Amino acid sequence: MEFKDKVIVVTGAASGIGLALTQRFVQEGATVIASDLKAEAGAQKAAEAGARFVQADVGQEADIVRLIDDVLGKEGRIDLFCSNAGIGIGAGPETLDKHWDLIHRVNVMSHVWAARKLLPYYLERGEGYFLNTASAAGLLTELHSAPYAVTKHAALAFAEWLGITYRNQGIFVSALCPEGVWTPMIENAPILQQTAITTDELVEKTLAALRENRFLITTHESTLPAAQLRAGDNEKWMGKMVRLREKAMGLLENHHALANAEAANKAEAGAPRTEGHA
Ligand SMILES: NC(=O)c1ccc[n+]([C@@H]2O[C@H](COP(=O)([O-])OP(=O)(O)OC[C@H]3O[C@@H](n4cnc5c(N)ncnc54)[C@H](O)[C@@H]3O)[C@@H](O)[C@H]2O)c1
Repeated sequence: MEFKDKVIVVTGAASGIGLALTQRFVQEGATVIASDLKAEAGAQKAAEAGARFVQADVGQEADIVRLIDDVLGKEGRIDLFCSNAGIGIGAGPETLDKHWDLIHRVNVMSHVWAARKLLPYYLERGEGYFLNTASAAGLLTELHSAPYAVTKHAALAFAEWLGITYRNQGIFVSALCPEGVWTPMIENAPILQQTAITTDELVEKTLAALRENRFLITTHESTLPAAQLRAGDNEKWMGKMVRLREKAMGLLENHHALANAEAANKAEAGAPRTEGHA
């Protein structure tokens, strides 16, 4: 697809990937509706980018319905819906059910709810596009958080199903599957920082893929060979991942130790001097 004069909705647009996509779509001549859970930051970033802002919590179906109705009412149509908002929470199975539920709603059901609302409209028009942000974690895994790995696999599975089912009716789906991208999301993931790309680089690759209506969008040369190894020689891939996890946990320990030392230094520098007050 091309972007000029198109109406594009982006969720999770107050920060990181969503913000960068919003800025670029505006530059390309699209009318962009930026949405985020965070009303204040979202409205400010949208205004700076030249987009209209609508607050919505994508973890609530009613909010997604309200967002889409608002855009169809005001802009009159939607050409591309970018389900981009996502969260990374939890660690292992001990993660509380309420947190499993939250990440499932935000990372998976938001895509389902957007499709549920938009499909009848797209089908009637005979065209429409979904860009669903999953992750390379959906093709491989995520080393720190089981809920993130599980929900991103589900997000990718849903995007594939949607893309296969409706392509012959003019509806396209792309699944964005980045490895590390420099956004607040990877602040505490030093293993991802080692190979992280900028949001500008991600936007270039994403727009190139959208122009070709390509389903799978990867951002790192390492992703597809790793996915091929996972499928073709799973034992070898598992062994590699076990070793990579060891490395990731070592880096994380150093990262926490450094952050603690920095916090202690700051507290010491800011603490009132006690000499002479005994
Ligand atoms: N940064 C990476 O390395 C990376 C890699 C792979 C996939 N992703 C995915 O990219 C997407 C964007 O992440 P990012 O890196 O830009 O992170 P980010 O934290 O910078 O931005 C996420 C945005 O989503 C918003 N948000 C969170 N919960 C929401 C909700 N319930 N409703 C509406 N908005 C909500 C946040 O307020 C924030 O503005 C996510 O789906 C993430 O999983 C990121």
